[in-house]
Amino acid sequence: MSDNTVYRASTTAPVNIAVIKYWGKRDAALNLPTNSSLSVTLSQKSLKTHTTASCSASYTGADSLLLNDEPEDIQSNKRTQACLQLLKRFRHDIEVKNPSAPKLSTMPLKLVSINNFPTAAGLASSAAGFAALVRAIANLYELPHTPTQLSLVARQGSGSACRSLMGGYVAWRAGTARDGSDSIAEEIAPVSHWPNLKALILVVSADKKGVASTAGMQTTVETSTLFKTRAESIVPQRMEEMEAAIHAKDFAKFAEITMRDSNSFHATCLDSWPPIHYLNDVSRAAMNAVETCNRKAGKLIAAYTFDAGPNAVIYYEEENEKLVAGVFRYVLQQVKGWEGEYGAQIPSNEQGGLEA
Ligand code: ADP
Ligand code: DP6
Ligand code: CO
Repeated sequence: MSDNTVYRASTTAPVNIAVIKYWGKRDAALNLPTNSSLSVTLSQKSLKTHTTASCSASYTGADSLLLNDEPEDIQSNKRTQACLQLLKRFRHDIEVKNPSAPKLSTMPLKLVSINNFPTAAGLASSAAGFAALVRAIANLYELPHTPTQLSLVARQGSGSACRSLMGGYVAWRAGTARDGSDSIAEEIAPVSHWPNLKALILVVSADKKGVASTAGMQTTVETSTLFKTRAESIVPQRMEEMEAAIHAKDFAKFAEITMRDSNSFHATCLDSWPPIHYLNDVSRAAMNAVETCNRKAGKLIAAYTFDAGPNAVIYYEEENEKLVAGVFRYVLQQVKGWEGEYGAQIPSNEQGGLEA
């Protein structure tokens, strides 16, 4: 008699937005970065990925992923395959130790995932997406692994995903081991450490970006003359300064490093050949608006950062919300091409970091 039991687990995962950017791989196969990075995990109340993983002996065919209602080719995606193989191996180890455990590792997997925000638009969909994929399968397989252990798996799907398995303030240590065993994420402070830090997400464009992150960073590593200096001489010190600023809740320092690092990353993009342009006129208007906020306040009260796309994330402290929101509303009303905002995210203690 065939067993039609369907085993299923669902989860959600948050987006994280780096304040020290990951850009460049030292090993493309293992997805190892050239530099460490640091991010803030955002609220799940507005931006999140929801993923369901199921498996059954009655399923036929290969493992599959339905992303935003469209089939995604995961068979030829080496990075997704690496995640699935690792997770299946972990499950297989459990089945060997416990012969009565159902043999989930041998069953085809069906993954169904929805991002409730634009995919591949520079809002970290690969981060929330692979964090959700790994966690959903880890739940399905009842794996005992810690978030840090799972970050090793998620990293192989998309580098930034390793940071979305934790809340609050998360460092991804580049590591030095050739096998990537020390290239992991660690929470340096919980969300409760800095409860009044907020993030405003400005959706300049929901369109798919012209140059995907993986391809863009490869071009930068191969062609940018600025890149080596950034990775080797600038980021290591910035990581230390940023960790200190976060621990001290020193917003002015946090803001300066965040903006300088975003600008440094986009400078290496422009310095690549062919040049990569992620920012547009609306992005630059958002940068000007932040500068206006800071000029009005007479100190740094707002910080912009941009991932690989034109969309802006503005960090600020809650007590300055009126000023920041007022300036943005005024400035962006005048800008053509402005689409909308995801609103301010405030912290909470749920799994993610900053909460809406
Ligand atoms: P982003 O700036 O949105 O992270 P990337 O170029 O880094 O853009 O990655 C986008 C890719 O990440 C998508 O084309 C898709 O392959 C993958 N991805 C996005 N969301 C998910 C998801 N929910 N589950 C699995 N993979 C996803
Ligand atoms: C600019 O993690 O999307 O957002 O590892 O190739 O999937 P892959 O790249 P990805 O790159 C993110 C780049 C960034 C900076 C960051 O999140 O640190
Ligand atoms: Co990405």
